[in-house]
Amino acid sequence: MARSGGARSPGDSWDLASSVGTTATMVAVGRALASRQPDALIDDPFAAPLVRAVGIDFFNRLLDGELEPAVAEDANATARPMTEVMAVRTRFFDDFFLQAAAAGIRQAVILAAGLDARAYRLAWPDGTVVYEIDQPEVIEFKTRTLTDLGAEPTADRRTVAIDLRDDWPAALRRSGFDETKPTAWSAEGLLVYLPPEAQDRLFDDITALSAPGSRLATEYHPDGAAVLTDSNQSMGRRFADQGLDLDLAGLVYAGERRHAGDYLTEQGWQVSGRTRTEVFAAYGRSFPEDAEIVARLRNSVAIEAIRT
Ligand SMILES: C[S@@+](CC[C@H](N)C(=O)[O-])C[C@H]1O[C@@H](n2cnc3c(N)ncnc32)[C@H](O)[C@@H]1O
Repeated sequence: MARSGGARSPGDSWDLASSVGTTATMVAVGRALASRQPDALIDDPFAAPLVRAVGIDFFNRLLDGELEPAVAEDANATARPMTEVMAVRTRFFDDFFLQAAAAGIRQAVILAAGLDARAYRLAWPDGTVVYEIDQPEVIEFKTRTLTDLGAEPTADRRTVAIDLRDDWPAALRRSGFDETKPTAWSAEGLLVYLPPEAQDRLFDDITALSAPGSRLATEYHPDGAAVLTDSNQSMGRRFADQGLDLDLAGLVYAGERRHAGDYLTEQGWQVSGRTRTEVFAAYGRSFPEDAEIVARLRNSVAIEAIRT
């Protein structure tokens, strides 16, 4: 069984099979399954090998399709709704980066990169530098595994191994980040794992590092941590039934937090937001309304912002 999450603490750390790191492996399962759908919205050939290299039995069995027959009667217990959510979410961030590149941006920062393989699979224009920030063990594992697989980055990939609650801007600058150039930033699947004040600080730091014309994409859950906690508890119970000991609810920081869109607007960003159902519709998909397991995500807002 994978190691469990448990309560968070300042300075806690993890690899891809423990605590918050397990969520990076979990969403990579979603990308692997989404890449196999008949009308796939995404193509992430690295997701499955990365998940297998982490070696959590429950996730490997999901990849093998072994868990589906036993639970097919209950849509909530299958991987399908999460797969659909991951397909749309991944495509949204893929398109964000490709549109930023088409607009001439040649510097990208993927915050909390996890097992995201965009630096290896997107068609970045020549001269693009892609920074990936995550905890040291996460960065090290992904780099080593993809090297062993013979994967080659499609951009000048630079890794920044640091906790995002620490002084990551200094570490980013040391890696060569140029704050005079416009940057495309993503914070995907990250905000709820930061304490509310760290979320604000993250946006303050991004803003300070963003030349005019910089862009940012993120997702925000306006229903708050309580809703997430409830549904994470029920998802955690379903996982436990299947042999994965992961306290998803305990990984999320509760408490009031500022709406990311409002906060960015106050910081001088031009912000647009779409609900997840709207993003689904933009890709010709319907949000899986019947599945309680993803209901908490229905109202989440996909935010795109431009620094004026
Ligand atoms: C749900 S995963 C998302 C990973 C990736 N963005 C994706 O969508 O595949 C959450 C990620 O946030 C990272 N993370 C959360 N809190 C962090 C922190 N304080 N410092 C660095 N990374 C953090 C975790 O290591 C993990 O990779």
